[in-house]
Amino acid sequence: MKPVTSIFDLENLARERLPAVIFDYVHGGAEQEITVQRNLDDMKALALRQHDLRDVSERTLAVTMAGDAARIPLAIAPTGLAGLTWANGECEEAKAAADFGVPYCLSTMSICTIEDVAAATGKPFWFQLYLMKQREVNESLIRRARDAGCSALVLTLDLHVQGKRWADAKNGLSIPPRLTLSNGMDIVKHPRWLLGMARSKRRTFGNLEGEVKKARNVSALSEWVESQFDPSFDLDTVKWVRKLWDRKLILKGIMHPDDARLALDVGADAIIVSNHGGRQLDGAPSSISVLPGIADAVGGRIEVFFDGGIRTGADIIKALGRGARACLSGRACLYGLAANGREGVACALKLLEEELNDCMALTGITDLGQVEPGVVTAQPSL
Ligand SMILES: Cc1cc2nc3c(=O)[nH]c(=O)nc-3n(C[C@H](O)[C@H](O)[C@H](O)COP(=O)(O)O)c2cc1C
Repeated sequence: MKPVTSIFDLENLARERLPAVIFDYVHGGAEQEITVQRNLDDMKALALRQHDLRDVSERTLAVTMAGDAARIPLAIAPTGLAGLTWANGECEEAKAAADFGVPYCLSTMSICTIEDVAAATGKPFWFQLYLMKQREVNESLIRRARDAGCSALVLTLDLHVQGKRWADAKNGLSIPPRLTLSNGMDIVKHPRWLLGMARSKRRTFGNLEGEVKKARNVSALSEWVESQFDPSFDLDTVKWVRKLWDRKLILKGIMHPDDARLALDVGADAIIVSNHGGRQLDGAPSSISVLPGIADAVGGRIEVFFDGGIRTGADIIKALGRGARACLSGRACLYGLAANGREGVACALKLLEEELNDCMALTGITDLGQVEPGVVTAQPSL
């Protein structure tokens, strides 16, 4: 592998290794990708307060997230179809997270199943649930997550309909990817990826395969999935899930202080301030811009996590300085997985840790459990 000095190098390696249809799926977002760009731009625009006259020789990076130990304030975010970037990708990503010591969250839309990941790591992980219209499927997924020892259920709130991803539609993304006239040449030019897929245990929505009796083949399963996103999802739906799940419940996709207050009312243990990495509502504000208002509304009563645009360790400090307890990373770890499997994910986590550690030293922070307000500011005008 070429020398990797940052997440951006992993992104470039992922771009080289993956066929465009898969890279665009990972990298892109909804419609014009306004919100994808806002997440990155607004993060970059924030300034860090430099503090030099402090002894920072002892620094504590570890925190807990929903009761689970995290060596750095970061969990791996749920990403559907991660297993299309690397053979048995979700298992590899989960193993890297377990070795490193951060929580891993498996998506409902993964290629590997809940049971595959449990067997691969032997450690508790988080399971992300998309509520399907067919309620028995949700009940079954929740039961399976409990039986597999998942310590937290992450309920995603922002999928009443699926955001339109123009690149995926143009590239003819299908599950599993099919050779078509338009993408055939490109896929064939990526033999390492093709070989990896040939070695993969599964190639479709692993968690749902056995649940949907009438979906006798893969294309029927994909059609079923598309028909299952539920526009009637509301607070009562969340209450229904809360009754079924007695371990930690984390609500993902909070972008407004009112929704954060409702999360308190329904007994959530934590929330994730997230716009789905800009893959749902194009035009939504960046998640870092709404974080302080939401953290204020919650007032420390439950844990506030953040995702959207984490590409460096400094970005983690920026989120903590604006009120998050910890962050999740979607693309940064996925680029690592696509670049070099489990080792690539380990590399992404190590890079973020090193950058975080350096950033703490230069901003005078010794304990990430206690980042004072004022560490993050708007860039002063000249
Ligand atoms: C390829 C991809 C697939 C995703 N799939 C899911 C998913 O299945 N469930 C979910 O709740 N969020 C999903 N997300 C959103 C992530 O969990 C997370 O909110 C987002 O990636 C954070 O932004 P970042 O990529 O800039 O870190 C996905 C994101 C990406 C990039």
